[in-house]
Amino acid sequence: MQEYLNKIDKDRLPEHIAVIMDGNGRWAKAHGKPRVFGHKNGVKSVREISEAAAELGIEYLTLYAFSTENWSRPALEVTALMGLLVETIRKEVSTLNKNNIRLKAIGDLSKLPQKSQNALLEGIEKTSKNTGLTLILALNYSSRWEITSTIQKIAQASKDGSVNPDQINEAFVSQQLATADYPDPELLIRTSGEQRLSNYLLWQIAYSELYFTDVFWPDFRKVHLYKALVNYQGRERRFGKTSEQLK
Ligand code: FPP
Repeated sequence: MQEYLNKIDKDRLPEHIAVIMDGNGRWAKAHGKPRVFGHKNGVKSVREISEAAAELGIEYLTLYAFSTENWSRPALEVTALMGLLVETIRKEVSTLNKNNIRLKAIGDLSKLPQKSQNALLEGIEKTSKNTGLTLILALNYSSRWEITSTIQKIAQASKDGSVNPDQINEAFVSQQLATADYPDPELLIRTSGEQRLSNYLLWQIAYSELYFTDVFWPDFRKVHLYKALVNYQGRERRFGKTSEQLK
């Protein structure tokens, strides 16, 4: 683990890492257990990766915890996931405070069960003064929901006369998204061997580096994050320019 940590250039860390935490179900199946067992163990990885990101000095970490499509899972699993969310936030608030981590959320939060909304808002409130890592949970989130509701908002503002169509440029759109307060992620990690974006931060990852690993989320540990960062730092980010222009 130390070997990878030593290879990380602390001056070239991404400001924002986004993660698609995948493979909880398959991990559980491989252990002969129900899917919920995978989610419970996935929480351990959430804890470990948040701690690692905070230790490294990463500023933003966004985790895809529940997509708008996840409602179509078996009711028992959805209930378990919501319960786990409430339980985890309540249990972890003191650790978040100890690590100076500020909790935030993006998504259509009003559609979450009332208990989940309460726990979430309480967690956000109790950690709001922290100045270290900002941990953003994407809950009942999908990019198409975000972009559609943003277009509705802009159309309404245009109708009301508070925005002129000439003012609508890329920066303006970014400022209306659920992620308005955060920079775009430079690095997106997806676990479990799947190479898809699954309706996640599609506007924001226009120039992100994508990193896919076969490790299932419940097995994802600090060393795996370090490996992803070493890999990220080995890439040349050209933003449409040529290699020579960057020199
Ligand atoms: C994907 O694995 C995982 C999820 C849809 C949920 C992620 C939730 C957690 C890690 C726990 C709760 C999180 C917090 C922040 C308290 P999958 O079920 O799709 O796995 P599979 O593809 O192997 O079936």
